[in-house]
Amino acid sequence: MTTRYDALRRRLLTEKHTWLVTGVAGFIGSHLLENLLRLDQRVVGLDNFSTGYRHNLDEVQSLVTADQWRRFTFIEGDIRDLDDCRRACRDVDYVLHEAALGSVPRSIEDPCLTNANNISGFLNMLVAARDAGVRRLVYAASSSTYGDHPDLPKREDRIGRPLSPYAVTKLVNELYADVFARTYDFKAIGLRYFNIFGQRQDPDGAYAAVIPKWFAALIQGETVYINGDGETSRDFCFVDNCVQANLLAAVAKDEATLNQVYNVAFGARTSLNELFALIRDRVAGFDAKAGEVQPQYRDFRRGDVRHSLAAITRAQDLLGYEPQFSVQAGLDRIAGWYWNKLG
Ligand SMILES: NC(=O)c1ccc[n+]([C@@H]2O[C@H](COP(=O)([O-])OP(=O)(O)OC[C@H]3O[C@@H](n4cnc5c(N)ncnc54)[C@H](O)[C@@H]3O)[C@@H](O)[C@H]2O)c1
Repeated sequence: MTTRYDALRRRLLTEKHTWLVTGVAGFIGSHLLENLLRLDQRVVGLDNFSTGYRHNLDEVQSLVTADQWRRFTFIEGDIRDLDDCRRACRDVDYVLHEAALGSVPRSIEDPCLTNANNISGFLNMLVAARDAGVRRLVYAASSSTYGDHPDLPKREDRIGRPLSPYAVTKLVNELYADVFARTYDFKAIGLRYFNIFGQRQDPDGAYAAVIPKWFAALIQGETVYINGDGETSRDFCFVDNCVQANLLAAVAKDEATLNQVYNVAFGARTSLNELFALIRDRVAGFDAKAGEVQPQYRDFRRGDVRHSLAAITRAQDLLGYEPQFSVQAGLDRIAGWYWNKLG
């Protein structure tokens, strides 16, 4: 059966548009770049390399043709600078706004820095995109916006109080996008990502996400720490599903789809204990010793929610989103990549 995403990709191959991807040297941004170039689109990328890397761009270059790579223009710049945002938005049709400082713990350590990047930078992007007359801005919102709301699964219209400065910034993004829609008739769509994972997600540093961190620890023979009892659960979502949601949101035609937020997840819950076993099995396929490793448990982390699971019906019904990769299928796809990088 042909999905809406299959049809969109076929259509894009015959239509050229110009896309701005902010945070293009980061994990998700580099996947958006790769997929758009493979569809022969023109892409402008903006990044300040605060948490992104030139080697992510180099890897994308190695995965596309020379002709496709020529359609990419990179601007080294900062979304905290309105002039950089204006330069990047010039002659752009669609904006996919990923640039932000991720990580709950980082925001607890340095809330001012997270605020400047994620709120002031976001506002600059809205102003620049509005003034440039772009067709639409799709932005990375976050499941952290559900905060302390107890309901499972998480539905877009029921949120609690934020549990971290990071969560505040992502909620404020939604509020600003909504105000821009009502005040300036600006067209934006927010995607509340739930624990996205995939190739090029950074395994290094204090703020690394759990999946790359555990691949790195198992491959390099280091201790794997589980925060809490391991029964904390998340709706882990492979990055290709996230790319699909971005492209569908950017071109969705129906007015009812606009100025909304959508959960972007797979729609299944995996505990940290289960996740550890899944990653260990995959690394053991390359190095049998890893199969014996046991994790070490330590304190729960501040600001973390206990369980997270998304209802994805709104994205399915309004955008035609159909996530193609389960957590197991996604881990199968990335295990070899981490082994080649770190083994
Ligand atoms: N990965 C996830 O599970 C997840 C979950 C929820 C939301 N998000 C959001 O998705 C987006 C992308 O996250 P990611 O996981 O790819 O992170 P990432 O850190 O790999 O990518 C972010 C990119 O933005 C760039 N950047 C940061 N501040 C910038 C600034 N001031 N100006 C220009 N560029 C800047 C970084 O250098 C980096 O390349 C972020 O907005 C993040 O908050 C991610």
